[in-house]
Amino acid sequence: MMSKHEKTYVTNANFMLHGGDYNPDQWLDRPDILADDIKLMKLSHTNTFSVGIFAWSALEPEEGVYNFEWLDEIIDNIHGIGGRVILATPSGARPTWLSQKYPEVLRVNGARVKQLHGGRHNHCFTSEVYREKTQTMNRLLAERYGNHPSLLMWHISNEYGGECHCDKCQSAFREWIKEKYNHDLKALNDAWWGPFWSHTITDWSQVESPSPIGENMVHGLNLDWRRFVTDQTISFYNNEIVPLRELTPNVPITTNFMADTHDLIPFQALDYSKFAKHLDVISWDAYPAWHNDWETTADLASKVGFINDLYRSLKQKPFLLMESTPSGVNWHNVNKAKRPGMHLLSSMQMISHGSDSVLYFQWRKSRGSSEKFHGAVVDHDNSSENRVFQEVAKVGQTLEKLTDVIGTNRPADVAVLYDWESNWALNDAQGFGLETKLYPQTLQKHYKAFWEKDIPVDVITKEQDFSSYKLLIVPMLYLVSEETISRLKTFVAGGGTLVMTYISGLVNEHDLTYLGGWHKDLQDIFGIKPTETDTLYPKDQNAVTFNGKSYVLKDYATLIEVDSANVEAVYEDDFYAETPAVTSHKYEAGKAYYIGGRLEHAFQQDFYQGLITELSLEPVASVKHGEGVSVQVRQAPDSDYLFVMNFTEEKQPIAFDYEVKDVVTGEKITGELTLEKYEVRIVEKTRTN
Ligand code: GLA
Ligand code: ZN
Repeated sequence: MMSKHEKTYVTNANFMLHGGDYNPDQWLDRPDILADDIKLMKLSHTNTFSVGIFAWSALEPEEGVYNFEWLDEIIDNIHGIGGRVILATPSGARPTWLSQKYPEVLRVNGARVKQLHGGRHNHCFTSEVYREKTQTMNRLLAERYGNHPSLLMWHISNEYGGECHCDKCQSAFREWIKEKYNHDLKALNDAWWGPFWSHTITDWSQVESPSPIGENMVHGLNLDWRRFVTDQTISFYNNEIVPLRELTPNVPITTNFMADTHDLIPFQALDYSKFAKHLDVISWDAYPAWHNDWETTADLASKVGFINDLYRSLKQKPFLLMESTPSGVNWHNVNKAKRPGMHLLSSMQMISHGSDSVLYFQWRKSRGSSEKFHGAVVDHDNSSENRVFQEVAKVGQTLEKLTDVIGTNRPADVAVLYDWESNWALNDAQGFGLETKLYPQTLQKHYKAFWEKDIPVDVITKEQDFSSYKLLIVPMLYLVSEETISRLKTFVAGGGTLVMTYISGLVNEHDLTYLGGWHKDLQDIFGIKPTETDTLYPKDQNAVTFNGKSYVLKDYATLIEVDSANVEAVYEDDFYAETPAVTSHKYEAGKAYYIGGRLEHAFQQDFYQGLITELSLEPVASVKHGEGVSVQVRQAPDSDYLFVMNFTEEKQPIAFDYEVKDVVTGEKITGELTLEKYEVRIVEKTRTN
């Protein structure tokens, strides 16, 4: 078995990747600018460039007429300065001639409206023509550049997402459904609760994707459609990579994942837990709205931590930050510039959670179209002197000191479970508060209680192994299969501590409710039965008493019938005042807690502090600090790299009660020091175990 401190290299580069999306195809008639790019790359301490992402029309200006010479030169020039290339397949946006000649590549939306050419990320995933065209292009790229010494990895397409409802997709969906239900219509109607509103399916040809002008209330159908969309996207991706696997078996493959909204909840439309299995490396595009006017910098930082720990845990190895901005973006409501210091801090935060890169969108600001004001390394002034360029160069210089961090990991004793399917089903549920389900946001809050205490957390998905964790937190797991229930049971029986909350374990994998109150195994594990979920209006509130303190409750309160559990907290108000709100239960070698209500953050802090003590969960290194400072760790075989980050607008005193070495300055430190606003210190601490 691999030691938990073993390094895992996700690419063969012996430096932290720094650079990003480079779109020279927008500047081919400006050789002077292309020459400046190469000079500026060196000055900015960048070394890795993702090329070709949107270059299809430059590579194949007419069907079957190819022009790779310009790309040869770009790649050679990058190689000439010792840089590496992440080569993209260009399927994310297609040439106009292609849509014009082969309209089947255009999507049909849910309302069955055929889309026009334009935009990007909008092709049919089923179209044979598009699959063939992309595979042909990818083969040519692999043949031409597969042995180029600068080729680091493949970047497949760009931010896959969306869905198509064309006839080809309908046929593919019907086949997928037939297969899934073993050609048995009864099984399909059982799963989709057919007789409801007389929606029984009597012939496979009646199966249609959900539509705002048709069927959208059959939850089993909605869920299966979303699963199909994920599978069809993966199938398209797998078709793209055939020539790459064949011709470049040793070149790792990734595609860039996303987050939804500047709140950084996981991307909703695709089940990344399935997609991850087909990638060699996880990479993602992070655009947090730093300095916003609705939350503290530390609140946002903890959300960034959450999603990084989710995407890292998909493969339990380092990942890549594929895109980020050196300053503002162009698509938030307000596109604020990163304040001095924030770029280094936010970049180091990504490294601290397991990224082996800091890559940007984009290298040089476009001159026209919608991204001409998006932050970039090189601005319209073409200068290496401006503030943003200098801050990028500083990140580069810092990354150059972090070579020993490459490949290191972050073992954790605590896991929070995130599930895409459960979120889909919960969002579909007509019930509870339609505006207040907030599943990902709820998980962010549970996670935060550990982030505040510098205790590493994995954010895992349901098929991952639970057994290595001491504590598994499963908030709002609305949809849960019998199989997962049985794995949760094994986890607790084997000595694990499990925390579950309101709105958990209500439906199975077909979105059909469990009969008999709650699943028998869950009743056994928790020694309770939830009987009703009360939903509160936004202005309503209740409270619970826990260990003699009162905590505000909003949105949800589950009424609980206790069998063999201990009552840890009771509701204070309403017709269920004095009844159990939080319970604990010893089950075989482990323990299971149930939290019945949505409680203010102070409850999470105090409740989890109890478990931290009970289970001896240690912060990875004790660094004394106040609120808003976060310490994250990358663990090498013999030492810990601590990233001490000030996510506040004030100076913050911190203290180490052991000796550490500042990785950037080489200075030895013990005792107290002060972090300036947004300052980050990266220190190495020798580990003896
Ligand atoms: C996405 C895309 C990029 C670019 C950025 C802008 O992440 O992948 O091509 O449009 O957004 O933030
Ligand atoms: Zn289609």
